[in-house]
Amino acid sequence: MESSRTSFASNRISELALSAIKDMAMRAAKLDDVATLAWGLPSFRTPTHIRDAVCQALKNDPDAGKYTLPDGMVALREAVAQTHHESTGILTCADRNVLVTAGNMQGVKVVLDTILEVDDEVILTDPCFVSHLLQLKISGGKPIFWPLQEKQGWAAKIDALEPLITSRTRAIILVTPSNPTGTVLQRSHLLAVADIARRHDLLIILDDPYSRFVFDEPNQYFKLASLDDLAARVVYLFTFSKCHAMSGWRLGYAVVPEELKRQMLKVHDSTLICAPRPSQIAGLAALTGDQQHLRDFTSTLKRRRSLICERLDRVRHVFSYVKPEGAYYVFPRIEAAHVNSRQFAIDLLKQAKVCVTPGSAFGPSGENHVRMSFCVAEDEINKAFDRIEKAFPV
Ligand SMILES: Cc1ncc(COP(=O)(O)O)c(C=O)c1O
Repeated sequence: MESSRTSFASNRISELALSAIKDMAMRAAKLDDVATLAWGLPSFRTPTHIRDAVCQALKNDPDAGKYTLPDGMVALREAVAQTHHESTGILTCADRNVLVTAGNMQGVKVVLDTILEVDDEVILTDPCFVSHLLQLKISGGKPIFWPLQEKQGWAAKIDALEPLITSRTRAIILVTPSNPTGTVLQRSHLLAVADIARRHDLLIILDDPYSRFVFDEPNQYFKLASLDDLAARVVYLFTFSKCHAMSGWRLGYAVVPEELKRQMLKVHDSTLICAPRPSQIAGLAALTGDQQHLRDFTSTLKRRRSLICERLDRVRHVFSYVKPEGAYYVFPRIEAAHVNSRQFAIDLLKQAKVCVTPGSAFGPSGENHVRMSFCVAEDEINKAFDRIEKAFPV
C-alpha cells in the first residue's frame, strides 16, 4: 500500500509548539469550573459608543461590508496620524506612514516577513512575549535573547545588549509595559537602546498593547516613538485589543517609515488584503470618540493589581514576585517544590483547577515562573487563590 504522510506540515512548523498561553486555555476549556489566569483576555466589554458606531454603519452604509484599501480606510488612517501626533509629537502622513492591521500579532508578523532573510537575527528581551518567538521562527529568523534582571525588578541590562549584535542582527523588539512581567522600561535604558540601534543600523519594533495601562507615575512613561531622529528606524504598533476592549475585532495599526510601508503592503495584502471594515469603523469611533473607558479600565486594573499582590503575599511559600508597574500580568517565581514550570502549570490545572501559563514559554529566564493575568474579574482572582491556598497548605 502507498505510504501516506501523518502530517503535511513542514519540519519548520512541526518543530514548533503551540503558544503555551493558548495551549493552557484549550486544556482549561475541556474542564468545568476552572479559575483561569492564563490568557490576557480583559473582562471588559467593548464600549457602547464603539459598538453603536458599527451598528449604525451596518444599517446605513452600503459599503460597510466591503474591502477597504489594503492600508485601511482613509478616515481611520487620518485619525491614527492625529492620535500619533498627540501622543508622541511626531508628524506622520496617513498615506505614507500608516498601515491598518488586524491587530499587533498580524502587524509584527508582517514586519518580520518584510525585513528578514533566512537566519537573520532579532533581539528579544528574555522573558519576552511568547508569540514573538514563534512568529520569528516561522518567518525564518533567529531569536537572540537579551536577559532582563529579575533581582532588579526585571530591569534591562544595557551592557549586555551590544555584545549580542552580529552582522545578521536586523531588529530589536520591545514591549513596555512588558508581557509577561508588567515592568516598564526606564527612559535611560530606552535611550541607550536607541543609541545602540543608531550605531548598528537596527530597526526598533515597538509592540504596544499596554502603554495606556501604567499604574505608577504614568507621566514618567517614556515613549521611544517620540524621538524625531529615530522615526526612520522605528515601527510603532498599536492594538485596539486591550485598551479599547476590542480583542475580538482584530484591529491595530502600524506607523512606519515610508519605504518600509511600501514593502510591508505587499506582505499585508497577500495575506489579509485589508483589516475587516466593520472593525475599522469601530477603530475610528475608538480613536475619535469618548475616552473615559481608558481611565475606567486603568483604575479597575490597578485595583486588580492590588488584589493579586495581596493574594500572592499570602502564599510566599508558593510564589515570590516582582510587583508589576503596568499591563496586567505578574510573573511570579515558583518557590514550591516542582519539576519545571510546564509540569507545575499542568498539575495546578489538574489538581486545583487553576489555569496559569508556564514561564518557560516566554524564554529561558522564564523557567521556574508562571504568568498570571489579572485582567479577569476580582471573583476569578479570588477563586484561583483560594484554590492555590488549599492546594499548598502552609
Ligand atoms: C505583546 C503583545 N503583542 C501582541 C498581542 C496581541 O495583540 P493583538 O490582539 O492586537 O493581535 C498581545 C496580547 O496579549 C501582546 O501581549
